[in-house]
Amino acid sequence: MEYYGVIGYPIKHSLSPVMHNAAFRHLGVDAIYLALEVKPDRIEDALKGARALSFSGLNVTIPFKESVLKYVDAKGVAMKIGAVNTIDLRSMEGYNTDAIGALKALENEGVEVKDKVALVIGAGGAARAIAFALTEKKATVVITNRTQSRGLKLAEDVRKTGECIFYPYDRIEDVSVDIIINATPVGMSGFEKKLPVPESLIRDVVVFDTVYNPMETPLISFARKRGCKVVYGIDMLVFQGAEAFKIWTGKKAPVDVMRKAVIEKL
Ligand SMILES: NC(=O)c1ccc[n+]([C@@H]2O[C@H](COP(=O)([O-])OP(=O)(O)OC[C@H]3O[C@@H](n4cnc5c(N)ncnc54)[C@H](OP(=O)(O)O)[C@@H]3O)[C@@H](O)[C@H]2O)c1
Repeated sequence: MEYYGVIGYPIKHSLSPVMHNAAFRHLGVDAIYLALEVKPDRIEDALKGARALSFSGLNVTIPFKESVLKYVDAKGVAMKIGAVNTIDLRSMEGYNTDAIGALKALENEGVEVKDKVALVIGAGGAARAIAFALTEKKATVVITNRTQSRGLKLAEDVRKTGECIFYPYDRIEDVSVDIIINATPVGMSGFEKKLPVPESLIRDVVVFDTVYNPMETPLISFARKRGCKVVYGIDMLVFQGAEAFKIWTGKKAPVDVMRKAVIEKL
């Protein structure tokens, strides 16, 4: 039996166990995936403990995505992004599959990002992964964020490797973009049920909401009413999970099985 898990704080609402366990069952892999709560000051102990217990791999979520960097050999875009969400504990290699998960979610809906202008709302971990992923694919990224200093810092970091500017949140109606990506919790169950940008912006654009609970967020629902193409947060979740699954097992992940398991749980 192999052991996998997700570490975070808090962690009990994570959908990753249901998603990965469904994939293991479907492919007949003798493995189990657990949600493991780790107190913020115990991350080093947790990684050592997981290795000692012969865990093969971990996903990492809030608040550890940045702090685990110093314990792993960061691969691919993880170093550039400055955050890791997947660790292979056998090699101690760290990856960021949020970035590829977001790109695959867009690609799955036939959205080409090259030479497009994408507005990313937010400057946290998800926004950071998405902004770097988009510029790597030659999109121009416009960052906006409630706290201007964080948005400016992200734009400055991304600009080192691609086209990226910051635009103030209170003047966001003035921008003209092809793709709008919400990387804030606005619209998430338990948060404000409102749009993260003014209605006037949601016209003739692709709308991607990274929020996946509920699946049909206020932003997705409004965008669909306006006839916009939409990309669901659940697809980013499933594709980032599928990428982690492949890193750990070497197997192609059964994405439809994983998506179904997540939707049932939601
Ligand atoms: N689909 C997926 O696989 C996936 C993966 C990761 C995350 N997500 C989604 O992305 C969201 C952000 O995750 P994260 O890891 O980036 O979190 P984070 O690091 O905590 O960042 C949160 C961001 O949202 C902004 N924000 C928070 N509350 C807001 C509000 N009421 N109004 C406007 N902006 C607000 C914050 O702005 P300030 O800088 O001003 O605080 C910050 O930019 C999550 O809620 C989750 O729904 C989805």
